[in-house]
Amino acid sequence: MTTIGPVNLWTSSDHVRHYLEHADQISHRTEGEAALLEFIPPGTRRILDLGTGDGRVLALVRQQHPETEAVAVDFSPAMLEAVKKRFAGDSRVTVIEHNMDSPLPVLGKFDAVLSSFAIHHLVHERKRALYAEIFNLLNPGAMFCNLEHVASPTPRLHEEFLHRIGFTVETEDPSNKLLDVETQLRWLREIGFTDVDCHWKWRELALLTGVHG
Ligand SMILES: C[S@@+](CC[C@H](N)C(=O)[O-])C[C@H]1O[C@@H](n2cnc3c(N)ncnc32)[C@H](O)[C@@H]1O
Repeated sequence: MTTIGPVNLWTSSDHVRHYLEHADQISHRTEGEAALLEFIPPGTRRILDLGTGDGRVLALVRQQHPETEAVAVDFSPAMLEAVKKRFAGDSRVTVIEHNMDSPLPVLGKFDAVLSSFAIHHLVHERKRALYAEIFNLLNPGAMFCNLEHVASPTPRLHEEFLHRIGFTVETEDPSNKLLDVETQLRWLREIGFTDVDCHWKWRELALLTGVHG
């Protein structure tokens, strides 16, 4: 018997190519990225980027913190190729192939874990489990910064958001498993994160952060 898992199109090179060709045009994303950068603490030494894609956000963080060592995780062959190309020759960045539907491998401890528009591709139960794994990977006082695609409170607001980024309900990515901000903030607090908040939001794009207290 074949078991069919949740839809996730990110292993398709066409899907990746379409995203990378349009990534710069997503409204307001640079504001969210700038907000994320503010939350990477000075003195950060070791960073983990989950669902790194072509390493776009990790590259921005390393521009500000060039002394950092980083681990970049993704499962998409085309993205892995792109991120390896971006950081070719940079021995401080390690790229790891891993499907986050399964628990993270042993990666050591980090001063910051970041993720950008990736965790919403996991089913809700796995999102929560991953947040707990992230908590356990952080050094005391370290940050989790999740720039995320979250659910709208109503179907009308969801349609409006899609329209703003050039999609419709028919053409939106079926890999998305969107969850509201409030539930995710509550989970982070229950897991033990402190100073949990949504620091920036534009429609369905949000920056959620928590500190390993
Ligand atoms: C919308 S892209 C974002 C990429 C990058 N973080 C950025 O901000 O441009 C989503 C990324 O999540 C990755 N991803 C989705 N599901 C995943 C999974 N189950 N395991 C690992 N990576 C996954 C995809 O391969 C893709 O690189």
